[in-house]
Amino acid sequence: MVDLTTLRADTPGVQHVIHFNNAGASLMPQAVVDAITKHIILESEIGGYEAAEAQKDAIQDFYTATAKLLTTSADNIAATANATDAYARALSAIPFQRNDIILTTVNDYVSNQIAFLSLQKRFGIKIVRATDDSSGGVSVDDMADKIKSLRPRLVAVTHVPTNSGLVQPVEAIGRLCREHDVLYLVDACQSVGQLPVDVSQIHCDFLTATCRKFLRGPRGMGFLYVSDKVLSSNLAPLFIDLHGASWESADTFCLRPTAKRFEDWEFPYALVLGAAEAHRYALNVGIEAIANRNADLCATLRSQLIQLPGVRLLDEGNRLSSIITLISERKSANDLKAALSAGHINTSVSPHGAAILDFDRKNMLTTALRISPHYINTDAEINMLVETLHRLLA
Ligand SMILES: Cc1ncc(COP(=O)(O)O)c(C=O)c1O
Repeated sequence: MVDLTTLRADTPGVQHVIHFNNAGASLMPQAVVDAITKHIILESEIGGYEAAEAQKDAIQDFYTATAKLLTTSADNIAATANATDAYARALSAIPFQRNDIILTTVNDYVSNQIAFLSLQKRFGIKIVRATDDSSGGVSVDDMADKIKSLRPRLVAVTHVPTNSGLVQPVEAIGRLCREHDVLYLVDACQSVGQLPVDVSQIHCDFLTATCRKFLRGPRGMGFLYVSDKVLSSNLAPLFIDLHGASWESADTFCLRPTAKRFEDWEFPYALVLGAAEAHRYALNVGIEAIANRNADLCATLRSQLIQLPGVRLLDEGNRLSSIITLISERKSANDLKAALSAGHINTSVSPHGAAILDFDRKNMLTTALRISPHYINTDAEINMLVETLHRLLA
């Protein structure tokens, strides 16, 4: 059970907006804002390098708290600028050769798909997408067949896509990858903070995420999990700097043993400290409690949205997340978002280009309205959203 009164008292944004854009960026708790501003002030008072030195232990707690969230060790975590940055660093560590296969899904994130296409263009790798099953998620059987028959260099799966309520079976795919010794990269950008994400169950080699979404951290921070297997095989990002490696002689360098080899030297330490605070906050509320609360909120909301005039929900899958996308034949998503925003209700839109394969399969050629509740939303806010939509669509 979450204590809504306390959690909302911790969150200044709830005084100003009704926030259903947690899949974009959530509202930061005051403690996160304080951690950031305190460090910026310290930097201004004693110097940036000196402030980092003074806050060494607190900075290290970013790794400890993030590791706890994912059920791993601090040495397996790298701090990055965002999820896409983490993803690019992970991809750049894989020594792809011509005709190597990346096995992925039709629901993988748009920027990941573009990165695969870019690898295809430059290195001649092949992209294969496993088919979906009748539930709308990727077919684990098809993944198994393709892993066995194609021996991919990498399997890449987005846990929760940006554009629908789908939750992909990342644990079952992880068991297949482990069994067949295939590298496995999971994009957990939209799942971490709203669902349990446990790398000891997922068995991935890399996992990428961002701090500003369901984790309620600041913009401009993300992280990368790197497995012991990857670290001990000496995989490293292509462009590694003096923080990730030491220059040993004119022609040699030596890799740092931990996941920090995936980082750059320069960091926005105020944001690292803010993210650490956000991750501790999520751990204190409890990920199971958050997931249960979100499941209740979203079930209530979906059951009401489906009754609105001309509305079609786009969410499919055996298990649904806190991302709800819909279209209405009566008004465009952009118009709905703008009208809601005029009433201080934040939502967002998923354009066709964000998910062309999924949207084409659903015969969805237009933009969808994306509503992403989180545990601090109230039933009254849900009612307000549904009533406003009803008025706009009636
Ligand atoms: C599923 C998914 N992966 C990755 C990203 C990229 O995250 P970032 O903007 O932090 O790079 C997003 C952003 O919306 C996303 O929804």
